[in-house]
Amino acid sequence: MSVPMETELSTDQNGASSQHSLSVPEDKVLVPVEVTLKLSSTAKIDDVRSAVEGMLEKRSLSYNDGPIPVPLDDAFLADNVQRICVCGCDTDEGMHNDNVLLFWQVKPVVHVFQLSEEGPCEDISSDGQSSSFNEWILPAKEFDGMWESLIYESGLKQRLLRYAASALLFTEKGVDPFLVSWNRIILLHGPPGTGKTSLCKALAQKLSIRFNSRYPQAQLVEVNAHSLFSKWFSESGKLVAKLFQKIQEMVEEESNLVFVLIDEVESLAAARKAALSGSEPSDSIRVVNALLTQMDKLKSSPNVIILTTSNITAAIDIAFVDRADIKAYVGPPTLQARYEILRSCLQEMMRTGILTSLQDCKNAMLPHYASAKDRLNTLDFHEDATFMQLCKQLLETAEACEGMSGRSLRKLPFLAHAALANPFECNPIKFLCTMVETAKRERSELPD
Ligand SMILES: Nc1ncnc2c1ncn2[C@@H]1O[C@H](COP(=O)(O)OP(=O)(O)O)[C@@H](O)[C@H]1O
Ligand SMILES: [Mg+2]
Repeated sequence: MSVPMETELSTDQNGASSQHSLSVPEDKVLVPVEVTLKLSSTAKIDDVRSAVEGMLEKRSLSYNDGPIPVPLDDAFLADNVQRICVCGCDTDEGMHNDNVLLFWQVKPVVHVFQLSEEGPCEDISSDGQSSSFNEWILPAKEFDGMWESLIYESGLKQRLLRYAASALLFTEKGVDPFLVSWNRIILLHGPPGTGKTSLCKALAQKLSIRFNSRYPQAQLVEVNAHSLFSKWFSESGKLVAKLFQKIQEMVEEESNLVFVLIDEVESLAAARKAALSGSEPSDSIRVVNALLTQMDKLKSSPNVIILTTSNITAAIDIAFVDRADIKAYVGPPTLQARYEILRSCLQEMMRTGILTSLQDCKNAMLPHYASAKDRLNTLDFHEDATFMQLCKQLLETAEACEGMSGRSLRKLPFLAHAALANPFECNPIKFLCTMVETAKRERSELPD
């Protein structure tokens, strides 16, 4: 049940890659290839890009989502590159990973980047109290892999990526906003624990990678709306002013791409309402208004994207929301998404040896949802019985988890493990039984 996007998004396949105005033969698909440099690497980005492009040209293999081994016979790449990853066509959330493209169908678009290890730089207000915002240099090590770990069936991630890519392209090409209007404000709303905050951060990270040739530097400023208002309101006004002054400074640097994440904006609406009803000082109105004014000011800068989230869908019909161009509902995971989330959890527990791996099976990897369904339906007796049992049980577990949020799902394997009688050397089939039990217990404890 997803609310349609307000803005019709670009339908091209290349998404964010469109920054390189490449002349691509019509029948070729642009496939982003992300190359992570080692932290120790001092190689020039352009040199690495050419080397990887050369390597891919020689390779003449098929493309599917996921890592490509760094060629060890190439000393330059082996010295400098930590990881090379094909990001498919960013089709449906890595769920259709079975999509394989052949090399002649593909024009790889190579993005080379180094992760920043700096971690969040917190703002400590002058009185030494808790911070009201965090700041990261992107792409940050902390957010590495986050995008891939978020699973939505509806193509939400692709739509967001394409939307942002189009918005940045329109700006870059100098499209007159009086003739074609668009803005760079995104609102994600939906129940808690559905990955909204994570998705905003992951999107910022992705865009910082995909657009690094246009914007060599990128930052993310996370404003916690709630903490902004949990203070005395007289302080908040000053905080907002200080915060936006800082953001304005970042934005003035043309080569900076700045993301402002305003998390849990429903607290702004609440603050407003409380002020109107007289239960809070009218100061809060001024603060909300200050925030809105600052946002409007910021909107005119081409290199800013404002990301906002709200846990409440009903209460967001405030002035604030009208400003957002793209409003997307983020709901609890569907059966397919639940299966994929749990599959990734199991795979990780096998990788780390907490669960015994499937060595004795022909398949070391659990299949994707569609493939699991197919195989269970066709009942091929060449298939390994234990393996099929495992697929079946994983599917049943995903069914049993209906209504659980992504956040609860990612915690479930841990809770199930803690509930095991013998936590060592556990086999996946036994483990899944415990997981169903745990899911039932967790669900029975959910508030209505
Ligand atoms: N659709 C999803 N796919 C994978 N993981 C998810 C999903 N939704 C939530 N999660 C997990 O839940 C965690 C918390 O999500 P968060 O971004 O804080 O949610 P929200 O901001 O909506 O409350 C995420 O880090 C992620 O591990
Ligand atoms: Mg959140």
